[in-house]
Amino acid sequence: MAHDADLPQPMTFHAAPALSGTAAIPGDKSISHRSLMLSALAVGESRVEGLLEGEDVLATAAAMRAMGADIQHDADGTWRINGVGVGGLMQPATALDMGNSGTSTRLLMGLASSHGITATFIGDASLSKRPMGRVIDPLSQMGAEFTASPGGRLPLTLRGLCPAVPIEYRLPVASAQVKSAILLAGLNAPGITRVIEPVPTRDHSERMLRGFGADLSVDLETDGTRIISLTGEAELSPQHIIVPGDPSSAAFPVVAALLVPGSQVTIANVGLNPTRAGLFDLLREMGGSIDIINARDVGGEPVGDLVVTASALTGVEPDPARAPSMIDEYPVAFIAAALASGRSIFRGLEELRVKESDRISTMAEGLRLIGARVEELEDGLIIDGTGGDLLPGGGPIATKLDHRIAMSFAIAGLVSKTGVEIDDMRPVATSFPGFLSLFRSLGGVA
Ligand code: S3P
Repeated sequence: MAHDADLPQPMTFHAAPALSGTAAIPGDKSISHRSLMLSALAVGESRVEGLLEGEDVLATAAAMRAMGADIQHDADGTWRINGVGVGGLMQPATALDMGNSGTSTRLLMGLASSHGITATFIGDASLSKRPMGRVIDPLSQMGAEFTASPGGRLPLTLRGLCPAVPIEYRLPVASAQVKSAILLAGLNAPGITRVIEPVPTRDHSERMLRGFGADLSVDLETDGTRIISLTGEAELSPQHIIVPGDPSSAAFPVVAALLVPGSQVTIANVGLNPTRAGLFDLLREMGGSIDIINARDVGGEPVGDLVVTASALTGVEPDPARAPSMIDEYPVAFIAAALASGRSIFRGLEELRVKESDRISTMAEGLRLIGARVEELEDGLIIDGTGGDLLPGGGPIATKLDHRIAMSFAIAGLVSKTGVEIDDMRPVATSFPGFLSLFRSLGGVA
């Protein structure tokens, strides 16, 4: 059915018989953004296979083009990027439209900060509510100047400084975006830029910067603090990158297969970087059967195929320290908890309130609407599960421009009596354009 892109696309997801088959998931969003950015800063042609062609990553591609990179998309799906070299970014002629993408915004603010350019960043209603002060603070220390909307939000205009000032910065929030913004700015600063990370977050920037030839080292303190040192005025050499499948997208078919009785699904080519794989550990602790086969290394990242078999799950009380390793997976983890036996207590998750939506309140409201028993806390949720019984169902769920809310409640629909209605499925295109066809190919009913 053709859709008018300007109109909401409501959809109802229904209880399904056992799911089966093999799911192919799209490329990793974090690695895709970084592939384009670092290739655009290398001198010469990089090739990227498996890039996530979702709206967020396409916003990054458009911005890198606007700042001078030559980016081509071949008919076979390979992306070819001819970079401008560190220091070579050009002033964009118009405002950079970041759409829904916080990662594009914060990482590109880092890149632009150490170039002698002025750039204006705009975004959709969701992105325009998200805090940018967390990157404005360190990037101002590096010499960039900002004119932001009230509360340090978009739209904002940044004036970069070249050469920028290298800094040592201790992260006040556990955020890979803030870490990466500083490191990317540090690429074009003389001397050593140092980020001190008390709680480890996804390390794709570190792995990829090294892969592109930057001089970057990581020292580990006895208490687990990571000290990342990057030598600036780097010369990056072009790479051939194969982007692994996104564990954050795999999360949806994994939870679906665990919850729908009798299911067995294989999810191929899933990135299993330990800084990203926290959900799979949690689901196993809840009693989920998730086997890894064909464990391998793809471009410096651990990858495997997951064989997931329907399982009876038990409630959990996860350690907040694991939050960064599954930060984007809490919405679907809450759905799993709503079907588990017993109580789950999720705490220490204040960061969820500043994602694409306030994911604590959006999930609490939605879960309540479909008959789950949930209590909202300042920093998390308490969920009393059904013990495997179907949820009553209902809706419409307000997705609030948040792709992961839409997909999480689509999975809830599979284990509901009357179905779950989602108010708008369009946000799914930001990270998982093939979600509906994958969902149907496994036997899901929408
Ligand atoms: C990302 C980091 C995380 C995550 C986001 C992608 C990245 O954000 O939620 O989807 O690619 O660096 P924070 O760094 O704000 O936690």
